[in-house]
Amino acid sequence: MAIQEILKHPHPTLRKKSKIVTEFDEKLKQLVADMADTMYDAPGAGLAAPQIGVLQRVVIMDVSPKDEENQLIVLINPEIVHEEGSQDGEEGCLSVVDFTAKVKRFDKIRVRTQNMEGQESEFEAEGWFARVIQHETDHINGILFIDHISFLKRTLYKKHRKKQLREEKKHEPRSTGKLRAG
Ligand code: NI
Repeated sequence: MAIQEILKHPHPTLRKKSKIVTEFDEKLKQLVADMADTMYDAPGAGLAAPQIGVLQRVVIMDVSPKDEENQLIVLINPEIVHEEGSQDGEEGCLSVVDFTAKVKRFDKIRVRTQNMEGQESEFEAEGWFARVIQHETDHINGILFIDHISFLKRTLYKKHRKKQLREEKKHEPRSTGKLRAG
């Protein structure tokens, strides 16, 4: 088990574009294993490598029903090659603290991906599964679901988040440099 720390917005790494995976080696397997441990521990339905600070185009998800066995899906260098229809649904993110919002997504997508051995394949997804794929592939392009919501909602979230960060700071031990003599 190697549960990693999940980076939280506004961490700058979450805004960077991830690099294409070219080495399908043990290191990649270890990254995927760490991501799976982290996702199931959270728990979340999906996780992208940049969320644990690794700027590689790797996303994982598990959209199996809660009362059924885990079914881990691993997508390496995923690319959405076709999209159609639309759906509205509530989204949250392990990197966006205490906030969910309705997000419009494509209803059906076609995905080109590689597996951990580097083999290419294509598949179709729709509904909730398609939503999770869109959310996770956004992550490897530095996009968060809050980028898809209205300006007003985003402003409310950012205000709330700033307040939260201020509170966190208050509870951090003060550095001695801040103490004034006399
Ligand atoms: Ni997310």
